[in-house]
Amino acid sequence: MTSGRNSKLWGGRFSESTSDLMEAFSESVSFDARLFRHDILGSQAHARMLQKVGVLTDADAAAIVDGLDAIGADIEAGRFEWKTELEDVHMNIESELTRRIGEAGKRLHTGRSRNDQVATDVRLYLRDAIDALLAVIDALSGALLDLAEREAESVMPGFTHLQVAQPVTFGHHMLAWREQIRRDRERLLDVRKRVNVLPLGSAALAGTVYPIDRHFVAAQLGFDGVTENSLDAVSDRDFAIEFCAAAALIMVHLSRWSEELILWSTPMFGFVTLPDRFCTGSSIMPQKKNPDVPELVRGKTGRVIGDLQALLVLMKGQPLAYNRDNQEDKEPLFDAIDTVSACLRIYAELVPSIGVNRTRCREAAAAGYSTATDLADYLVRKGLAFRDAHHAVGAAVAHALAQGRDLSALSLQTLQTFSPLIEDDVYAAITLEGSLAARNHIGATSPAQVRAAIARARGHD
Ligand code: ARG
Repeated sequence: MTSGRNSKLWGGRFSESTSDLMEAFSESVSFDARLFRHDILGSQAHARMLQKVGVLTDADAAAIVDGLDAIGADIEAGRFEWKTELEDVHMNIESELTRRIGEAGKRLHTGRSRNDQVATDVRLYLRDAIDALLAVIDALSGALLDLAEREAESVMPGFTHLQVAQPVTFGHHMLAWREQIRRDRERLLDVRKRVNVLPLGSAALAGTVYPIDRHFVAAQLGFDGVTENSLDAVSDRDFAIEFCAAAALIMVHLSRWSEELILWSTPMFGFVTLPDRFCTGSSIMPQKKNPDVPELVRGKTGRVIGDLQALLVLMKGQPLAYNRDNQEDKEPLFDAIDTVSACLRIYAELVPSIGVNRTRCREAAAAGYSTATDLADYLVRKGLAFRDAHHAVGAAVAHALAQGRDLSALSLQTLQTFSPLIEDDVYAAITLEGSLAARNHIGATSPAQVRAAIARARGHD
């Protein structure tokens, strides 16, 4: 149909109906239908407010609230037919409301625009998503604490440049991961403050002529306050961008852990085994057990970084106020939420079942001259300047390397050729346990400090 009237909710001034191509191109209901619960909550709060200020009668408001409840129940039950020609979630629900309750349904949109409506829905949706993510992060950081406790004494090599550097406890390494995710949690909480502000009442861009009570709406919806400027409130999506930045950083952390788990689970490292139920095999090589979870998480990190990028670029050219460009905020935002949530969830399940091969970890720590610094520190305690000690120990390491032996396997006589200050108490200092125990201050790797950090994290100190 190319002539005659246009039957859209907004079709009054149009003299031809929308082209099929345009409908398919511009619809968003295929991806914004997931906002339905929040769209309904927002509409009900708006209707109650219009009733309170006398714009809607009690009977109309009640019909709207009940009608929306019934629609919500039908959507939940899969009994709702979404229509592309109705464009988006907002107009699908509003049209159905009017079909069901008549006149009163047509009054719902008084003093409101889809521009403040969609901004409200997305904020409500994102707030719930953040709260759900916070709960998964708590589960994951609890799992890391438990694993750190289990492995508080286990020695493994600590790396710099992926070369064996100094011994650390496996527990200390797990607590490092936990620090990252705790900061991620704080970032989400901080983003949540700026998400949780009500834009409704901004209407299309300039506010509305009705005597609305925005604080009443905010209180009903659990918002901490109302936005201060209508032009800004309908147009900016910085709250979604901030969320994606926090999500991207979570993914970057998970990706780093993934890289370690992938390395550690190879036979060459052999530090950990991942549970069979989280791995897959090869269709050709019968011996293979592949670390798919960390690989997929590492791979999905690129997606979420891309989501952040998409939103930044989406926003950069937009003049005030609302532009249809903003409809493109949803797919990246939802993708970031879904992806980060799936990755956190699977890590929360996987971490408790990480098997630590303590013998292999210990061998690797012993093999790399990881206590060379301890020998230098020993010489410093005996009075040598650190630079001289460093040099002497370097020579000892070169000698041990040539012999294919560890430092602690060299005889006292041999060690003394590198420094006459070395006595037989040296062996206590250059064992793995001696090295760990000596790093005994807050933030360091000794088993005692790992236990103290766990106690602080659990609020038991
Ligand atoms: N689907 C639109 C969006 O996601 C809703 C707002 C549409 N507003 C408009 N003036 N066309 O942004």
